[in-house]
Amino acid sequence: MLPIFIIPARRVGSRLQTIAREQMGVNAEMNSQMTERFNVSGAQLVKLFGRAGDEVEVFDSRAKRVRDIGITSAMYGRVFFVALGLVGALGAAAVYGVGAFFVVDGDISGGTLVTLAALVTRVYQPLTGLTNARVDLMTAMVSFERVFEVLDAPESIVDRPGAVDLIEPTGLVEIDHVRFRYPAAAAVTVRSLEAPSAIVGADPDRDVLVDVSLTIRPGETVALVGSSGSGKTSLASLVPRLYDVSDGSVRVDGHDVRDLTQQSLRAAIGVVSQDPHLFHDTIGANLRYAKPDATEAELDDACRGARIFDMIAGLPDGYDTMVGERGYRMSGGEKQRLAIARLLLKNPTIMILDEATSHLDNENEAHVQDALEHALRGRTALVIAHRLSTIRDADRIVVLDGGLIAEEGTHDELVARGGLYAAQLLAASSDSADRIAVLD
Ligand SMILES: Nc1ncnc2c1ncn2[C@@H]1O[C@H](COP(=O)(O)OP(=O)(O)OP(=O)(O)O)[C@@H](O)[C@H]1O
Ligand SMILES: [Mg+2]
Repeated sequence: MLPIFIIPARRVGSRLQTIAREQMGVNAEMNSQMTERFNVSGAQLVKLFGRAGDEVEVFDSRAKRVRDIGITSAMYGRVFFVALGLVGALGAAAVYGVGAFFVVDGDISGGTLVTLAALVTRVYQPLTGLTNARVDLMTAMVSFERVFEVLDAPESIVDRPGAVDLIEPTGLVEIDHVRFRYPAAAAVTVRSLEAPSAIVGADPDRDVLVDVSLTIRPGETVALVGSSGSGKTSLASLVPRLYDVSDGSVRVDGHDVRDLTQQSLRAAIGVVSQDPHLFHDTIGANLRYAKPDATEAELDDACRGARIFDMIAGLPDGYDTMVGERGYRMSGGEKQRLAIARLLLKNPTIMILDEATSHLDNENEAHVQDALEHALRGRTALVIAHRLSTIRDADRIVVLDGGLIAEEGTHDELVARGGLYAAQLLAASSDSADRIAVLD
């Protein structure tokens, strides 16, 4: 009976392995739809486009596949288990059947036969267990494959051996002949965690930054302007080393950022991104993310500085108000001011603001402008802004165009020059009332 145990186990094992692989694939697809489409902003988009029906249909078909494959896998497992039991029973039956003839012939005693049958059953039990274990192991290997795929995924940004800490930085930022191209999607995604459609797409064949050199002296505020897609955000993300340059180098205080520990580099840099993120937690906890041991007075100071104090004080729960996607939904401007408050608590040497004032109305903008001016004093700042009021206060303006620095100078110099900056200003002032107001 032994071969009957071993041969099917191997085949069933590999079949179950295929099923398990497919099962994890369809599960991942269903989960990625849930996290991507059915989160708060995704669901809102679905509703606004009236596509709920289509999404339900797609989800339905994915959920059905998950169900079907679950049933198939369970059926295979059960049938195999029952078959094993059957083979065991047949073995015992054969012992009794053949043995009975020997007993009748008087070759062995009835007692011997019963003992033999009991022993055979005993041997079958561990054999069945082993065969099952083998099948279980083969399916578990599929999980291992996926776990190892994640563990083996190369980390694109790592501290190099012997990286040094950035100690008491003065805030000198040097961007030296930087060329930059985003890594290909396939290089930065783990295949088994994504829906198949997320990894197709050609490698980017375009340098976002072609050759950019820029030195920001300690304490200087540089405004980065340029048309949408000109690479402002990309350039700013190279300073905290969210990406590595393709060519050239970015230096902070004279150290190439690749020679510094990421921990110390990022401790020195504060970023308010284009779309600041708040965790689903209280306002206080979101603020303390920058400084876990901040006192209430420090929170107050930071919030006053970012002109968000009155708004928070007006909430029934104050700092204990839950925010984030599932909590109190802050407006875009409030979110940005909270992000600025968080940055003030962090108190970094280098500040990077990506259109930090774009969501604010004129009055609020003036407040935040005032707060920023205070906050930026004595710090190195790279400010990406479209609004004239922000740009005008900068020590220097750098105009980015097509991955190159097109112009640089003060507001008056650039206007007098009549180049790209002046042209963009004119175009902007003709369609935006508040910009005209500032121009006056
Ligand atoms: N993660 C990414 N992978 C590949 N390409 C990207 C990625 N992020 C941005 N890009 C591309 O790089 C270019 C520059 O984008 P970037 O976000 O730096 O522009 P920007 O100047 O900040 O524009 P905006 O003023 O609209 O914010 C764009 O063409 C964009 O499509
Ligand atoms: Mg941007």
